[in-house]
Amino acid sequence: MAPKRLLVLCGGRSAEHEVSLLSARNVVAAVPPDRMQVTVVGITRSGAWLRYPGNRFLVHEGDASRVALAPEGTPVALCCRDGRGWLASLEGGGGWPVDVAFPVLHGTYGEDGTVQGLLALAGVPFVGCDHASSANCMDKAVTKQLLRAAGIGVAPGLVVSRRDLPVEAERVASVLGWPVFVKPARLGSSVGISKVAGPEQLAEAVEKALRFDGKVLVEGFMRGREIECAVLGNDAARASVPGEVVPLREFYSYEAKYLDAEGARLDMPARLEAETVRRVQDTAVAAFQALGCSGMARVDFFLLDDGRLVVNEINTIPGFTDISMYPRLWQLSGLTYPGLVEELVRLAEARHAAQNALCTEFA
Ligand SMILES: Nc1ncnc2c1ncn2[C@@H]1O[C@H](COP(=O)(O)OP(=O)(O)O)[C@@H](O)[C@H]1O
Ligand SMILES: [Mg+2]
Repeated sequence: MAPKRLLVLCGGRSAEHEVSLLSARNVVAAVPPDRMQVTVVGITRSGAWLRYPGNRFLVHEGDASRVALAPEGTPVALCCRDGRGWLASLEGGGGWPVDVAFPVLHGTYGEDGTVQGLLALAGVPFVGCDHASSANCMDKAVTKQLLRAAGIGVAPGLVVSRRDLPVEAERVASVLGWPVFVKPARLGSSVGISKVAGPEQLAEAVEKALRFDGKVLVEGFMRGREIECAVLGNDAARASVPGEVVPLREFYSYEAKYLDAEGARLDMPARLEAETVRRVQDTAVAAFQALGCSGMARVDFFLLDDGRLVVNEINTIPGFTDISMYPRLWQLSGLTYPGLVEELVRLAEARHAAQNALCTEFA
């Protein structure tokens, strides 16, 4: 059988551009060469799509702070040709067929349903959640509503936009108490997030978050441990062993995630009792299903001091860097990196086939 033509999309227009490149390098390295032929398309910070044959798409790849897309990619656009995906060259015509895509993009214009919608329109099976569940998981306020409706525990919170200003500190205090977390509703990497100890700092924190997103979440402080669980599958999704993030500073900030090696410790697997592991896994799968996820997601929890389990957020394109939880939790659960990539591609194709088999005539 001819190898599948796998399109790996990386880079992108979000603050997590470099993280995406580091993730994509690992995904590309894990693709079994006898069964899949990789083409990388790097999306520049300004949104241009550049195609690289094979795996030479980065410069400074050994240096996380300088890694960047190589400049010599061919400009391309994705479209649909004869009912399937086609990367059209914007230089000199021609192009390349695409059998399946793996968007390794994080945050805005990558993890939020936009790219997923484009891939669906182009008729390309793709790894990970569809456009609707991606968009719902990107918006922490919507995620909260859908989880709550499914009977899953979430942190109490208030949604604020400019029309609600000024936010009344008494109202926040009466609903949530202090401290609170203030965060942009649709962003990642801890950008724009503040921990607010009392009423004096509230307005500034809300203003800061509003600079990144017109929709802001003010959330009650969850005192406890941060547990993460990887979920894999379509209708029959399963959960990995859980891991734990132990922030060694005030919280799991942007610096702790990407810059400061001393900022957080990752325990994989998390030290938990068997009963708690089961509860985390069951809730992770329930949350995945409540948001209509498919393929993959990492479900992040707070395990509160009183034993309650609260879902903090669902990441639909988790990191695949060297230190990332998602692939490592699967390794601990018995699935190798190449095995994981193959399974994700298989799930992408299965969902696409199921979608195509749906009835489209209503006579
Ligand atoms: N309600 C909360 N209570 C306690 N800590 C929180 C709360 N919300 C966020 N945090 C801290 O801030 C970090 C980033 O917040 P999170 O909502 O996960 O945003 P992001 O999508 O940027 O990862 C979390 O990992 C945690 O350390
Ligand atoms: Mg988070």
